[in-house]
Amino acid sequence: MTEINQRRADHPIHSIFLERWSPRAFTSEEIGETDLLALFEAARWAPSASNLQPWRFVYARRGTEYFAPLLATLDEGNQRWARNASALVFILSRTHRTTSTGEVRPSYSHAFDTGAAWFALALQAQLAGWHAHGMGGIDRDRAMRVLEVPAHNRVEAAVAIGRLADPATLPEDLRQREKPSQRKPIGEFVFEGRFNGA
Ligand SMILES: Cc1cc2nc3c(=O)[nH]c(=O)nc-3n(C[C@H](O)[C@H](O)[C@H](O)COP(=O)(O)O)c2cc1C
Repeated sequence: MTEINQRRADHPIHSIFLERWSPRAFTSEEIGETDLLALFEAARWAPSASNLQPWRFVYARRGTEYFAPLLATLDEGNQRWARNASALVFILSRTHRTTSTGEVRPSYSHAFDTGAAWFALALQAQLAGWHAHGMGGIDRDRAMRVLEVPAHNRVEAAVAIGRLADPATLPEDLRQREKPSQRKPIGEFVFEGRFNGA
């Protein structure tokens, strides 16, 4: 079966799923707006319940005035390496929907749908020679303020986008973790007919 990045698929899949991973060593180069917009274009075509498209993105490109304030909303541990990213993207989801009668109601699948959009962005980044590293380690209250996020929107995660650099550029502790991770076997999370696991 396919083996890439020291990851082995037990069943035949496209190589992109093994190729994509979340590095921390980035080159610090700038990313053009057109290159970045292509990643959001991929996210745009994700499926969502009732086609509500609840995902929202706020980005900062390296070399712009927005980069430092957005970087500062990440946890220290993420700032250490994400400061070398080419762009930071914050992923938000709209928690409510407006009905045809103008009523504002909670949405059930806003996070699920937005997860699909984030993964489309991550795969497109990989296909275009970039890497996208998701981060939940964020000061969310601060991010809400800095990004000026309106009500009925939730900060889901942030993403560092960059080109892969030599792991030697990382501090020692991060360098040791700089490799693609493994996965649980399918038997631990896929069940036929009824739920049969933890
Ligand atoms: C929602 C989410 C939050 C994450 N938070 C962090 C984070 O705060 N810091 C970090 O270094 N990696 C973070 N990661 C990266 C995961 O640790 C990584 O995706 C996981 O270990 C699988 O490895 P892979 O992406 O290289 O395949 C996050 C990923 C996701 C999807």
